[in-house]
Amino acid sequence: MAPKKIEIIEVGPRDGFQNVPEFIPTDVKLKVIDGLVKSGIKSIQVTSFVSPKAIAQMKDAKDVTTACLERYPDLQLFTLVPNLYGAKAAVECGLKELTYVISVSDTHNEKNVKRTHDQSFEELAQILELYPDIKINLDVATTFGCPFEGDISLERVMAFLQRAYNIGIRSFNLCDTVGLAHPELIKEVVGSALRTYQDCEFQIHIHDTRNMGIINTFTAVECGIDKVQTAIGGLGGCPFAPGASGNTSTEDFVYMVNRMGYDTGVDFDTLLQTAKYLKDNVSSGNYSGHHIFIDKTKVSTQ
Ligand code: COA
Ligand code: ZN
Repeated sequence: MAPKKIEIIEVGPRDGFQNVPEFIPTDVKLKVIDGLVKSGIKSIQVTSFVSPKAIAQMKDAKDVTTACLERYPDLQLFTLVPNLYGAKAAVECGLKELTYVISVSDTHNEKNVKRTHDQSFEELAQILELYPDIKINLDVATTFGCPFEGDISLERVMAFLQRAYNIGIRSFNLCDTVGLAHPELIKEVVGSALRTYQDCEFQIHIHDTRNMGIINTFTAVECGIDKVQTAIGGLGGCPFAPGASGNTSTEDFVYMVNRMGYDTGVDFDTLLQTAKYLKDNVSSGNYSGHHIFIDKTKVSTQ
């Protein structure tokens, strides 16, 4: 039997970099992306088109996107947008795929994108209408809990998904924005979402705040999700969601699932080199990956 495939969707250049206080020079960002491509990753969230007043790190979104589209015309490159303004800018740059973000938690949505649910959904509907040929994913932020509102019930998540489904969303990314999930919660929410929306695509996006990044991400795979978002070095976090640590680390996750016999198409050694390049060049990152801290002269990683 052919090994089961897992698609690794790299979000470090967006979720990872957005939480780094020092400005990362554009050429360093591009070198990291190049390393990710060389490792075999085919789907990369290269930046976000957000207000530079909200996240100054992303002020070079246009330059990063243009360079990536030129260098990797065959890869699946996409960006995050919080509003119509960002969607227009990203499409003008040539991107064919966008991720729009709305939080299930009303409070987090207002802090993150300064919009009510009604306003965010209204703008999403406009984007869907304006760009029928662009793939639009929805980041479902705070699916597994909110730093301001606490637990988010399954009913709230399902009502939220239904609202997005009703206006045409068919690709969802279930996000544990601050790392509050645990495996039983993942099974409950992911199981319910996959059973209810069998015509939709689902991705999982987990933060490793409580050292449960790998197990929560893998539990989603066991539930049937085969598109997994991770970040190189385990960088990540939302400046508008206090308490989050980095995402599940790409190299840690790939190491595990490759060794388990899954087919990711991604080379661990190249990833690790890329993660180390990042750590050497961006000192203020909140690295939550483990392999970058292993001294290979003392411990074999194989
Ligand atoms: N990209 C770049 N600039 C943008 C923008 C975008 N997507 N959306 C708005 N702007 C600019 C406006 O042109 C305006 O510029 P000006 O002050 O020079 O005139 C300024 O930002 C404020 O615009 P406004 O529409 O009033 O935005 P806001 O202050 O209400 O902020 C968002 C709303 C959504 C733009 C902002 O909160 C944001 O970018 N949030 C992103 C948060 C994020 O990335 N979180 C982490 C990922 S989940
Ligand atoms: Zn995130």
